[in-house]
Amino acid sequence: MDRSTTFPSEHLDSFIASLAEQHWGRSSALFSTSLLQGLREEALTHFAQDEMDAAGIGKSADQEQSIRKTYIRWFQEENMGPAEQELWQRLDALRVILNRTCFLALRSFECHFAIYPAGGYYRRHLDQFHTDRSRLLSFALYLNPDWREPDGGQLRLFIPTKNKEEVVDIPPSLGHFAMFQSAALEHEVLLTHKERVCVIGWMKTGPINPLSG
Ligand code: OGA
Ligand code: MN
Repeated sequence: MDRSTTFPSEHLDSFIASLAEQHWGRSSALFSTSLLQGLREEALTHFAQDEMDAAGIGKSADQEQSIRKTYIRWFQEENMGPAEQELWQRLDALRVILNRTCFLALRSFECHFAIYPAGGYYRRHLDQFHTDRSRLLSFALYLNPDWREPDGGQLRLFIPTKNKEEVVDIPPSLGHFAMFQSAALEHEVLLTHKERVCVIGWMKTGPINPLSG
């Protein structure tokens, strides 16, 4: 089988089971170390070559600074390094697997590198825009070797439960992957004390055909 489109099955199965039962799933065993290291190098090269932009939210630049401090670069299908290409293929394979196993209709995905400088963060938010509901599943793949708890920068998920909410913190360590329903889970990136590198993306539905007749 094509190496670029397969996943270790026992890890994939438990990841998908938790995604289907809860609103989210995590795994640290879906991607090879060589792919993760390649992605990290490509992200850092983009950053060093000044190919990443300060991320924007909404319209007001002032508001943005207070909610989010990070640099991003979108993957561009026609212009990707080898590791970006391999990840792109694997994410597309994952999209197909999710459609089959979770009865979804994911048509496409989009993703970007994100680099948070020391002092970076992203305040609590929801990923789905009110004006655009095409983002169904959010995902994050972390690219930071030797991450320790005092380094901060955890992804904090707020899981809605019956009466209150549960908090889950995911460290941005090399290979950690998280996926969650974009419309259901608020989340934040805690203040990072070290440069923090990751890929962030969204699995998307297509437009829903209006009822005719
Ligand atoms: C986002 C986001 C999480 C992270 O970009 O919407 O929530 O860990 N990122 O960087
Ligand atoms: Mn988000």
